Amino acid sequence: MKIAILTGGGDAPGLNPVIRAVAKVAKENQVEMIGIKRGWAGLVELDHFPLKWEDVKNLHSEGGTFLLSSRTNPIKMENGIKLVSENLKQVADGLIAMGGEDTLGVANELYKNGINVVGVPKTIDNDLFSTDYTIGFDTAINITVEAIDRIRSTGKSHERFMVVEVMGRHAGWLAVHSGLAAGADIILYPEEKYDSQEVCNKIKELKKQGQNTGIIVIAEGAEEKEGSYTTQDQELDAFGHVKLGGAGEKLAKLIEDKTGIETRHIVLGHLVRGGTPSAFDRVYGARLGYAAIKLVLEKKWGQMLTLRGTEIKSMSLEDGVKQLKTVTSDYKDLIKQLT
Ligand code: F6P
Repeated sequence: MKIAILTGGGDAPGLNPVIRAVAKVAKENQVEMIGIKRGWAGLVELDHFPLKWEDVKNLHSEGGTFLLSSRTNPIKMENGIKLVSENLKQVADGLIAMGGEDTLGVANELYKNGINVVGVPKTIDNDLFSTDYTIGFDTAINITVEAIDRIRSTGKSHERFMVVEVMGRHAGWLAVHSGLAAGADIILYPEEKYDSQEVCNKIKELKKQGQNTGIIVIAEGAEEKEGSYTTQDQELDAFGHVKLGGAGEKLAKLIEDKTGIETRHIVLGHLVRGGTPSAFDRVYGARLGYAAIKLVLEKKWGQMLTLRGTEIKSMSLEDGVKQLKTVTSDYKDLIKQLT
């Protein structure tokens, strides 16, 4: 049996441990692995290579993706799904696709077009409804928390308020988890529109109480009550996503202008997507890789893996990509209590 494997969309720490586990378990089961380069782009151009266990055995601690990635979307190309399906059939009997909503959405289209596909959930945004956690999220929160702890100490020395912008697209998981873990004073996230005047009032109140420094975590996709999210430019990517960014800078300036309190901002951005995966993401990655090959051996096509509680399960790709997971009311209540 020959199985191809690819990673699509933004990279995430933990992808390499998945690839490593897939390669090892495949080898033990006489499954030949074919690496596809740069996600769907590699199936459009048929850029592939034999993926050997020996090449990936030391990848357990490496961030990024050995297979490279892209945001190429075959659905947007004329006859794209047909082309990708035919190219895949030339080199393999099936495909393991690792990605978020976009990549797994394409995987589902391929499955509907008769291709043998298994999906693995990945994104630092943790916004896939089908799974409790996506690979990469744990590392990203831990790096964010470490960064905030560092920013806090310089903010304290200079008696400044510090605005920290984090990724996450239109879901606030990264902002909420890291903000709670780092004891932020204010957490702003897309699921709860914010009033900038209230933010300023809160900072003035903290200052009145003798607090001369503080942390405001803002998700890149956070929206003001009287506005929308902030974008870097007008461009959309191949999946129709805007390029978010700038919310932190805008807010820091506004706080300083309206309160006179010195406020700086930092954009953590891609920093938290890179580097070595956490122990959780390494083990989770190994479990996903093993489970992916098991689905392949059992010929359970059209399925994607999910983590429910502590168990790795699977569900249909069709159901798995139906909706996004956004911040739930229990977290919203908790944030109201703690900030
Ligand atoms: O989906 C993962 C993610 O990191 C988002 O949080 C972010 O908005 C986006 O990717 C950034 O994409 P790019 O790497 O293309 O700039």
